[in-house]
Amino acid sequence: TIDVDTAATGPQISDTMYGIFMEDINHAADGGLYAELVQNRSFEYNTADNENYTPMTSWEEVGGGGSAEVVDDDGRLNERNRNYLRLTLPGDGEYGVANTGYSTGIAVEEGKEYDFSVWARADGDGGTPLTVRLTDDRGEPLAEPLGLEAEGGGWAEYTGAFTASASSTAGRLAVTGSGGGSLSLDMVSLFPRDTFKGHENGLRADLAEKIADLDPGFVRFPGGCLVNTGSHEAYEGPDWPRERSFQWKDTVGPVEERAVNHNFWGYNQSYGLGYYEYFQFAEDLGAMPLPVVPALVTGCGENEATDDPELLERHIQDTLDLIEFANGPADSEWGGLRAGMGHPEPFGLTHLQVGNEEPLVEDFFERFVEFRDAIEAEYPDITVVGNSGPSSGGAGFDRAWELNREHGVELVDEHYYNSPEWFLSNNERYDSYDREGPDVFLGEYASQGNRFSNALAEAAYMTGLERNADVVTMASYAPLLAAEWDTQWTPDMIWFDNTRSWGSANYEVQRLFAQNTGDAVVPSTASGTPDASGPITGAVGLSTWNTSAEFDDVKVTSADGEELLGDDFSGGADQWEHITDAGSWAVEDGAYVQTETAGENTMVMAGDPEWTDYDMEVTATKREG
Ligand code: AHR
Repeated sequence: TIDVDTAATGPQISDTMYGIFMEDINHAADGGLYAELVQNRSFEYNTADNENYTPMTSWEEVGGGGSAEVVDDDGRLNERNRNYLRLTLPGDGEYGVANTGYSTGIAVEEGKEYDFSVWARADGDGGTPLTVRLTDDRGEPLAEPLGLEAEGGGWAEYTGAFTASASSTAGRLAVTGSGGGSLSLDMVSLFPRDTFKGHENGLRADLAEKIADLDPGFVRFPGGCLVNTGSHEAYEGPDWPRERSFQWKDTVGPVEERAVNHNFWGYNQSYGLGYYEYFQFAEDLGAMPLPVVPALVTGCGENEATDDPELLERHIQDTLDLIEFANGPADSEWGGLRAGMGHPEPFGLTHLQVGNEEPLVEDFFERFVEFRDAIEAEYPDITVVGNSGPSSGGAGFDRAWELNREHGVELVDEHYYNSPEWFLSNNERYDSYDREGPDVFLGEYASQGNRFSNALAEAAYMTGLERNADVVTMASYAPLLAAEWDTQWTPDMIWFDNTRSWGSANYEVQRLFAQNTGDAVVPSTASGTPDASGPITGAVGLSTWNTSAEFDDVKVTSADGEELLGDDFSGGADQWEHITDAGSWAVEDGAYVQTETAGENTMVMAGDPEWTDYDMEVTATKREG
């Protein structure tokens, strides 16, 4: 029995209750949301980013009779974009390089338009013919080639557009020169024309739309571990540490002038999706932007505090400059940079987080207070968000909460990744939180899995967040995005490959709650025990993981020989589409059948809808090879 007290007023639920946490993990940005199709566009990949990288990663030679060399000399495009490619061209014929994109290659769709650009310099006096081709991996054209001419003298940007005449997931972008001499190239780029909201240097539309469908109240960015790990030195030259924390000034201005960096998650960060683009995305989503800056105390396994007062001073000043970049007038220094990038109006920043999950809580608080004092002195209306230290809880966590209370922190970011059982048995976590203390921002959480049962446990837990909406004012599932071809962390909310994206069951729960957030809690009590004749969590009769790359003809058959799941579910893209169309679960022929996909992986689970055990058999043929 549920008794609802319609006369009573429960806590208001904040408009920012459900939001997103966007970090470039699992290629969420480069190779994912950031729509750039060329990988390693400025030849800056380095073994410091990943031991398998070289400056020619993702590039291959095209044609013959010439040579290609990545150089870093005084002829560079600019100080932050140091490497470029020098081609020595044959007198006869064409020679150049082709980019192989991410994963299987550059994905293009028939009829769609793509914008090409390159910075080039012909090293002779006259012009050098430059041909740009979009082909598949066998060299078959996917569009009419572009004919350009690079001038001698200095670097210049050349642009053109393709309309794809066929679709491919294995596209190549080839840039070749001819006529002898040498030709220098940098920032070779290809973007789909139809980015989210049509922005230049924009975002991949299908991913951004899935995020928009979550109707997020806020966007926390750019990390996570990405923010507080690595050196806190600024980029100031070739010998400066490549593994730097995410520092916003590295990521703004013209893309060809942005530094690149090692990504904490093991790949290269182009910073093409930088602070301007994050603010713009939040604005497009109608969400509150919530940037996170490093507090000079690392976490995520590094756990070190930087003791350099000048460096701390510089980061505090950078944070004040960030607020000016977001909110300052167009005639201020940093507001002017924002205006020059195309946004004269302020972005309306109200919250800013200092630090992420630092286990050295005492060291963190010393620095946090310095940041906050400086921010409050200049921008008293900005809420400075703190955190609760290590996500695992324990002594550090308790001490961090004590310090948050002592220092009157308004909003504290908590993180935890736990089992579904934990989420089910901790629904009351916030019932006992101090109503006089700081508010809670549950900035990262997930039950460990992308199964339907994980999503259900999270949904149950979220009812506890809402019931405590007077103390929990913001929450975001994490991580948000994952490339199925290079995943550093699971589970994740939205998965993608180069052409497709699919929300997990957990995504559907987030969407359901975020699209239907109430204004206030209506107090209610439940009594009695549901009449359950069997186990209420159900029994799963069978589960198998079918990698369609390995198996054909997957069949699920009931004990009496009835086919519950048949041929339709085998075979690559067809299989995936079928599942998407069919939804992720159904009751078929009296049996509960659930399918889940991650890329080409399909999990089939089946059970009886009455939740009793069910005998079934799975057969599949192993593919040759
Ligand atoms: O979401 C993945 C990581 O989990 C984040 O980078 C970090 O904040 C947390 O430990």
